[in-house]
Order: sequence, then structure tokens, then C-alpha cells
Amino acid sequence: MYARSQGTLSATVQCSGAMRQDETSAAGVFVRRLQAVRFRNYPFLRLDLPADVGQIVLTGKNGSGKTNLLEAVSLLAPGKGLRQAGFRDILPKNDMSGSWGVTAVLDKGDEEIELATDYENISGHRTEKRRVRLNKAVIPQTDLGEICSAVWLTPAMDRLFAGEPAGRRRFLDRLTQTFFEGHARACAAYGQALRQWGALIREGKTDERWLTALEKTMGKYGAKAALARRETVFVLQAELDREATVFPQALLSLQGGGEDELAKLSEAESAEFIRAHFSESRDIYAQSGSAGGVHTVDLAAVHREKNMPAAACSTGEQKALLISVLLAHIRAQAKRKGALPLVLFDEVAAHLDDRRRDALFDEISALKTQVWLTGTTPRPFESLKETAHFVAVDELLRTVPDWAAAS
Ligand SMILES: Nc1ncnc2c1ncn2[C@@H]1O[C@H](COP(=O)(O)OP(=O)(O)OP(=O)(O)O)[C@@H](O)[C@H]1O
Ligand SMILES: [Mg+2]
Repeated sequence: MYARSQGTLSATVQCSGAMRQDETSAAGVFVRRLQAVRFRNYPFLRLDLPADVGQIVLTGKNGSGKTNLLEAVSLLAPGKGLRQAGFRDILPKNDMSGSWGVTAVLDKGDEEIELATDYENISGHRTEKRRVRLNKAVIPQTDLGEICSAVWLTPAMDRLFAGEPAGRRRFLDRLTQTFFEGHARACAAYGQALRQWGALIREGKTDERWLTALEKTMGKYGAKAALARRETVFVLQAELDREATVFPQALLSLQGGGEDELAKLSEAESAEFIRAHFSESRDIYAQSGSAGGVHTVDLAAVHREKNMPAAACSTGEQKALLISVLLAHIRAQAKRKGALPLVLFDEVAAHLDDRRRDALFDEISALKTQVWLTGTTPRPFESLKETAHFVAVDELLRTVPDWAAAS
């Protein structure tokens, strides 16, 4: 039932959510001050930036802390940040007791916002949670997406199209979460039920009521997750089709995970389809340890002009395709959410030829939000020198001031 399919994007998907009419009025986010404490190789960090500066270029030698700084910025948005690291791993390696923290003052439209986040490390009870404060009041992390979101491109993503499907799924789920607040929760509820279901079957337990309840849960949340992913791909494709840039157009589709069948069904029908699939797959799972499901869906991309699967494109072409998807995602956020994310590009100039690099900088300069870029030298960013704010990371003050040590 869940055989890998070659289906293309369903044109029948209807987009949900209020569509903003005016993309140009979307509010961007501008970091004015960033402070971090006990954050990887920064015992302390404070960066004050001029108001409304559109591009921040971080330069410094290998190992100076450019990516770490971007990671700190990425934690102003929901989730686990640009490294997707465990929160404990962020603590300085030479002293992993206590907590780390990031505080920022942001301008968003006419508002000045103070956002703070820290690792909730209750002594003896290490949690994988972080606390978020908006203007000093604790808020649930789920509310953070409405205040600040972020998109990023890192060297680790250079192999996204050629690598394992799990990486592409995580990437798609991140993009989906921006538009569908409940997506991460739906994926987690589906995954938890799937693990429990698998464990029961492996242990040979035939508790019919329990298995049936878990299959229903997988149906309910699997259908939600599949629909949200499909709508996200649809929205991204519409953006990609609308605007031609120097970056190659990508043709996106969802492959496998029952997507061909699910794309024809309503959410309620999909829930029943998924429930029935698992109910009929108990024996197959007991024998093979695998039953497929919406968690096996893959995001496929084709370089449209060359009619070439992204995985078969050159390294630079793959990066250009990914940039084109990310730019589409940023435009779609402006329209659907009326807000622009912070944009974090780590070592983005690598693998791009001069024409594409300059085209990217033109695109970046036109964005009405803050874009952070890194490189080992300022040279590739020459064309941004009139507008960007350059920061030499090696020269940042890292000693803990008395007032911070005392607090
Ligand atoms: N938890 C940690 N505690 C202390 N130091 C860490 C921790 N995690 C990473 N580091 C160190 O921080 C330093 C800076 O890392 P980072 O990845 O930010 O460098 P970078 O400037 O981006 O370098 P590159 O140009 O090679 O990408 C590295 O030496 C790394 O080993
Ligand atoms: Mg780096």
C-alpha cells in the first residue's frame, strides 16, 4: 500500500490559512543587540548593531565562532537551532554545569522586543527544554513562531538532495512548521504512537483495544502531517513558478509514504486510510520490522530547466536549487504570515560562481528583513560593503563583565 510512488504534486490541494494580499508590507525582524552567555566557545558575547541594518557579515578564521554565533541567533526562533543540537551540547565543553542563555533586542515593525532564551537545567534533572521570555515574561515556545522565525542554509545542507531522505524530511518539516503551527506536535504524536505500536507487536502483545487506539492515533495525526506537508510543497511550488531568478527553478514533489493515495483523499478519509493500513500491516511488521507510513515520505526536487533530479546535479547547482527553494519559502512567509524570518546563511558563497553569488546578494539586499552571512574573509562580500555591517568575530569581547558574572 505504501509502495514508493512516482507521483507528482497534486494540483488539487487547497491552501489553508489567510493569504495576505500585500507582500511588501510584511514585517521583517532586525536584531539590534545580541548577548550570549556560556554558549559554546563564547563564555560571554555582546554584539550591538546599528538600527535597521539589513545585512550582517561575520568574518573570521576557521574555528573563530561564526557558526556558533549564527546558532545563537537561530535560537531566537522556535526549535533546536541551526545545528539541531542537543541543548546540553551548547554548554562550554570545559564546564558543562549550569545553563547557557541568549538575549536579544529586536526591532519588528514599530515594535521593540526583548527575547531571551535559556537552557532549563534544573539541578539533577537535565531536561531537553529551553525557556523563552518575551519582554521578561515567560511564554510557551509554541508562541515564539509568531514573534520570530528563522530560515538558514549551512554547509551541512550542501548534501541535502544527495543524502538520506530523513534529512530532506526534517528540512520539509521545518518549512512546514512555519505555516502550520501544529505540525511538529502532529509529527510527534504520530511518531510516539508508531513507536508504541511497534513495541507492542515486537513483544507479541495482542491487546486489541490498545493496538486499535494507537492505529487511530496514527491515522489522525498522520493525516494532519501529510496534509500540512502537501500544502507546504504546493505553496512553495506556486512561489517557485511565479518568480524567475538567476537561481534554477525547482520542481518539488512528495514521493512515497502513501502520498499518491493520500493526495486524493480528504483529511478524514486519509485518517481512515492510514488507520486501516496499520491495522492490516501488523503481521508484515511482526515479520519484517517495517510497515511504511507517512513518516517515510520523501521530498524530491528536479532541476526544471535541465530536467535533472537534484541529486544528480553538481554541488553548486544543488546549492543554487536549495537557495531558490529557501527564497520561495521566504516570499511565501511574507504573503501567508505577513512576516519575514531572520535569514542565516553560513558560508553561502562557497560553491557559488561569481554570477550566482552576486545575484544572491542582490536578492538579499532586496529583502526587508535581516540577513546574517559568514565567511572566512570579507572579500566575497565586496558588493555588500555599502549596506552591510561587518563584524570580525575574532575581535569580539568574550570576557564576562562583572555585572554579568554577578547575575
Ligand atoms: N560546546 C562547546 N564548547 C566549547 N567550544 C565549542 C563547543 N562547541 C563547539 N566549540 C568550538 O567552537 C569553535 C568555533 O566553532 P564554529 O563552528 O563557530 O567556528 P567557525 O568560525 O564557524 O569555523 P569555520 O570557518 O571552520 O566554519 C570551534 O573551535 C569548536 O570546536
Ligand atoms: Mg562555520
